[in-house]
Amino acid sequence: MIEYRLVTGLPLSDARHLYEEAGWWDRTLPDSLLAEMFRGATAVVAAFDGEEVIGLGRLLSDGVSDGFLQDIVVRSARRGEGVGAKIVEKLVETARAKGIADLYLLAVPGKAPFYQKSGFVPLANYTAMKFNWNNEPDNAAAKNTATQTRSGEKRDHETIH
Ligand SMILES: CC(C)(COP(=O)(O)OP(=O)(O)OC[C@H]1O[C@@H](n2cnc3c(N)ncnc32)[C@H](O)[C@@H]1OP(=O)(O)O)[C@@H](O)C(=O)NCCC(=O)NCCS
Repeated sequence: MIEYRLVTGLPLSDARHLYEEAGWWDRTLPDSLLAEMFRGATAVVAAFDGEEVIGLGRLLSDGVSDGFLQDIVVRSARRGEGVGAKIVEKLVETARAKGIADLYLLAVPGKAPFYQKSGFVPLANYTAMKFNWNNEPDNAAAKNTATQTRSGEKRDHETIH
């Protein structure tokens, strides 16, 4: 049976594997960055099949006014089983329980229908934007370069707390 839990500690190797599979993580990046990303989140929901983490999602928020769902991911071999929808549901419940007024997310191309099934609606007349740190041409700026410019020591097999 798959269990969905709010977690504060998570095996970093599982998280890294999921992010690598999604194409979000360059294996040369230090694990300490990943640890910081989870430590800094308002809430993290993990889907466990036994001991194995098969899906993850984060809520980033000020706890009152605005919240953002970030990096919802399911292990590729386990997609299409309803795991992603359950992770989103638990994160939405968590945001609701905290009294967060508005909940947003940025859907990557092709993923909006997935989030619409979970109750999100496209925002008409708004444009998703990102600061262009490296002054790149418009399309290149859409790539996530922020993490690639940060530094940190390498710590293998770390557990996030
Ligand atoms: C997006 C992702 C998290 C979905 O997880 P999942 O566990 O496969 O999704 P679910 O099985 O819970 O799907 C829930 C519903 O959304 C639908 N759905 C899932 N992905 C969809 C897509 N790309 N387009 C349209 N519908 C989709 C499913 O068919 C299902 O519909 P149903 O309730 O009518 O049966 C998963 O595909 C993934 O990890 N992708 C790679 C990472 C990624 O792109 N994350 C999103 C970043 S914005």
